[in-house]
Formats: sequence, C-alpha cells, structure tokens
Amino acid sequence: MAKRSARITVPQFVGFKRDGHKIAMLTAYDYPMAAMLDGAGIEAILVGDSMSMVVQGHDTTLPVTLDEIIYHAEMVGRAVEHALVVVDLPFPTNHLGVHKAIENAGRILKETRCQAVKLEGGADQSDVIAGLVAAGIPVMAHVGLRPQSVHQMGGYRVQRDAARLHADARAAQDAGAFGLVLECIPSAVAKEITASLAIPTIGIGAGPDCDGQVLVINDLLGITSGYVPRFVKQYADVKTIIQTAATQYREDVAAGKFPGPEQEFK
Ligand code: KIV
Repeated sequence: MAKRSARITVPQFVGFKRDGHKIAMLTAYDYPMAAMLDGAGIEAILVGDSMSMVVQGHDTTLPVTLDEIIYHAEMVGRAVEHALVVVDLPFPTNHLGVHKAIENAGRILKETRCQAVKLEGGADQSDVIAGLVAAGIPVMAHVGLRPQSVHQMGGYRVQRDAARLHADARAAQDAGAFGLVLECIPSAVAKEITASLAIPTIGIGAGPDCDGQVLVINDLLGITSGYVPRFVKQYADVKTIIQTAATQYREDVAAGKFPGPEQEFK
C-alpha cells in the first residue's frame, strides 16, 4: 500500500502567515540530511540550486542541470515525512517558454515526491508562474538577489531598488505564487513587502520581519568552504568535527590501533 503523507501542504504553509507562525526553511540535497532536518521539525525543505556551489563545487549556481536536481530531489522526497518540500528550477529551465517550464517542473513533481517548485523572478516571470499554477504546480518565487543572474547583476550584491522589489513581489503574488523568497534586500523594504502581501515571505539576508527564514544547510553547519555571506549564522562547526574524526582515524590506522579486537571477526 502507498505510504500516507502527513506533510505540510501548500495551503497550510500559506496559513502559517495568517496564524503568525514563523516558518523555518533549510536546504537539503540528500536522504540522511533531509531526514535529520525533517526530524528537527523544520517546516519547509528546499532542494536548492545552491547544490551547484556547496555540493558540486562550482563557483555559481548556473552549472547544475535539471537531471542532477531531480536526482537529489528524489532522495530528499523519499526522506521527508512532515516538511513541505520545494525544488529549485535550475537555470535556464524556466526561461524557455511556459510550455517548456511546465514540462520541466512537471518532471520534478512526477519523479521526486516533492510538492512545489521555486523559480527566480518576479514581474518578468509572471506568465511562467501563472502557467505553472494553472497546470497545478505550486510555485514559490524568488526576488531581490537572484544568484542565477549573477553575471547580469555584476556580483552578489544587496538589491536596493525598492520600487522594483515591490513590483516584483506583487507580480509574483498576482500570478499565483504561494510564497516568496526575498534575498539580500534591506530589512525595511522586506518588512513593507511582507506587510503588503497575503502570501508568506521567506527571507535570506532580508532581516527579521519576513514570515520565515531560509539558510543553506552547509552554511548553518559550518561545512562551506570559501566565501560565506554576512547574513549567514553558523550554528555548528561540523567541519572541525569531521576533520578531527578523520585525523584520529588516520592516526589509529598508522599506529595499528584500528581495527581493534571489537571490530575483528574471529
Ligand atoms: O538555492 C538555494 O539554496 C536558494 C536559497 C538560498 C534561497 O535559493
């Protein structure tokens, strides 16, 4: 018999805003991490295209492909029992026309057990958002700093054009998006946008007044190598834990202390 899901649904996620329930969202890219975050009560898990940087080691989010995202989202989708699971549409899968965007997002929902897609864009993507929603595919939009447009934006910078941010946020909601990521914008603008919308805003570098927050799990755990943005709060130093354990193992092997009698077969 099919496994019954008690996952947070898209309408419940939207209802969190009405209820004043702050939403904690984190990224995950594989089965064990998704299961741990789900067990911690995280309300939403994002299979982010940030995997291009923090898992695959690229210097932007551009290289990761739809097939690679689906490979990781399938593992996450199998692990999660409670959280809402959202999957990024990787560059340029939502820029090839509405029909193609439905085909690409449809593959994610059909092949991964995940419930929604996220795409970078606001007013410029409103036809795509509306097309996906009409096809029954829930969409979270993402405005402000859009890492997929890093070359056009000239780097990872705070986005300060308040009029454009308001217009993008309103257009995303009007097109049918059920949620909105606000990345790297002034807190005051994020507060105004949050107050002006019926759908939840999820901030990353957007201050404390959003309806929820999202972080890249590798940043939170302290296992990101290289640049870490100022908006990140590191909650653990897992890199040191892993390196200490690996060093101890190497030293035990070198000294003939591992395996010991407990690990041997007689
Ligand atoms: O890809 C990602 O992880 C994201 C979040 C940082 C919002 O888009």
